[in-house]
Amino acid sequence: MEMRLQKLIASTGLSSRRKAEMLIASGRVSVNGKVVTELGTKVDPERDHVKVDGKHLTSAQPFVYLLLNKPKNVMSTLDDPGGRTTVKDFLRGVSVRVFPVGRLDFDSEGLMLLTNNGDLAQALLHPRYHVPKTYLIKVKRILTDEEIVRLERGVRLDDGMTSPALVKKVKKAEQNSWLELTIREGRKHQVKRMLESVGHPVIKLIRIRMGPISLGDLPAGEFRFLTDREANALRELVETRQEAVERGDEQVVRSKRPVRRAGWAKPEKTKKFSSKKVRVV
Ligand code: URA
Repeated sequence: MEMRLQKLIASTGLSSRRKAEMLIASGRVSVNGKVVTELGTKVDPERDHVKVDGKHLTSAQPFVYLLLNKPKNVMSTLDDPGGRTTVKDFLRGVSVRVFPVGRLDFDSEGLMLLTNNGDLAQALLHPRYHVPKTYLIKVKRILTDEEIVRLERGVRLDDGMTSPALVKKVKKAEQNSWLELTIREGRKHQVKRMLESVGHPVIKLIRIRMGPISLGDLPAGEFRFLTDREANALRELVETRQEAVERGDEQVVRSKRPVRRAGWAKPEKTKKFSSKKVRVV
């Protein structure tokens, strides 16, 4: 089946579609021995021989990207010497060996990416690229605005100050409250330690977003493959960050959105948040 050249290049995981277009336009791609710079060129992956920088595209490894909603009390690793349930136990039918992109605590829930694209996984986790991760958290008692501002500016932990974060009030009840916290670092138990440092221990922690990927309404314990569009968005995010870092323009990466904070939602008696039901758009 014919497809656009840039789409074929991106589908092998070599680059995002945007970067594939740059590769084509700069004369680094050939089809059947002829350099092609026309972006709309159609190729048939079964029939045509495509090379990027003189290397056969077909030799590129097909990459796989999965999104799992990790349930509570599951190890985020592939093996556990203690015999506890791991994320691997939820990947029935996946024959490719994929690795988790980062960790979630045993008692944390939510979005976990798994892939066999080691370079992309490493870049997503690299502190230099500041990939945002958003957590929906239930904490003891109700945070004051002053405590929220402290979290956003950075709090002192035993391994140093945290970078600026974003906090969104979600809802409050009498004894506890729910927040969305977005951070661009990934230190061990960071969210729990941040909340502890302002006097509000975490009761429940669900990761709902990582870069451009959202958990949506995927039920706990289930996984799905990322769509082409999502995988492309991940590659593009990493490339944009890498380019900014290479240009010495890390400001772009660090820039903070202006915060316009809404109030707490009214307590709702019937609606409960859990990773089984959480819907993120
Ligand atoms: N921060 C935490 O404290 N725990 C997690 O599982 C993830 C982020």
